Amino acid sequence: MIETPHIKCNKEDISKIVLMPGDPLRAKFIAQTYLKDYKLVNSVRNMLAYTGFYKGKKITVFSSGMGMASMGIYCYELYKFFDVKYIIRIGSCGSTDKDVKLLDTILSTSSYTETNFSYTYSSVNVNEVNSSEYLNNIIINKNKNIKRGKTVCSMVFDAYIDNQDEYNKRLPQNVLAVEMEAFALFYIAKLLNKEATCLLTVSDSLHDKKQISSSDRQLKLKEMIEIALEASLEVE
Ligand code: HPA
Repeated sequence: MIETPHIKCNKEDISKIVLMPGDPLRAKFIAQTYLKDYKLVNSVRNMLAYTGFYKGKKITVFSSGMGMASMGIYCYELYKFFDVKYIIRIGSCGSTDKDVKLLDTILSTSSYTETNFSYTYSSVNVNEVNSSEYLNNIIINKNKNIKRGKTVCSMVFDAYIDNQDEYNKRLPQNVLAVEMEAFALFYIAKLLNKEATCLLTVSDSLHDKKQISSSDRQLKLKEMIEIALEASLEVE
């Protein structure tokens, strides 16, 4: 049994590939819906994690919590102390591009942040980091038309930013979506020589004000989860 400050679990109960939703209850839903012979492998702080088998392959679904601080803690500990090699974040995002519609699935090929996460972590200023080409190629080969590109990683939920126009003006022009965890994941993966990428479902759109039904939302989340699970079968 390994006990880190935030995870208590047997090393062999964590697979080399980990899918990371933000929400602990989504981790539970994924285990219940898709994994055979699954078991709860972490419950410290209710950051629920399950390991089971998808089409015969051992897969761990570990929740990250919200924001770079929480993601940074869990991905660091998984990579460093549990021999995890690959992490695919599966989350939601707000879209900033008029061609990105509500409920689209997006692959983040790089994450931009204006925060000082990299400076605090490693005393250098880095504002953009790519996701894993290896994982992205697996995903793109199986989903040729998936929308992909740069996403923004924010420290503040964008709807709550005081002056959103000023914030948007400062961001690079060619970003597809905004979320709050990918930069920490990609940056830590890079520094630890690991692999990480991020799939996102658009849950909020700045352009598209229409309401979406909860059944549509659930269906599209399932589409993203299945892309991640199928990609997991191909690694190593
Ligand atoms: N902004 C940041 N993160 C998010 C959003 C958003 O609009 N929607 C879902 N995650």
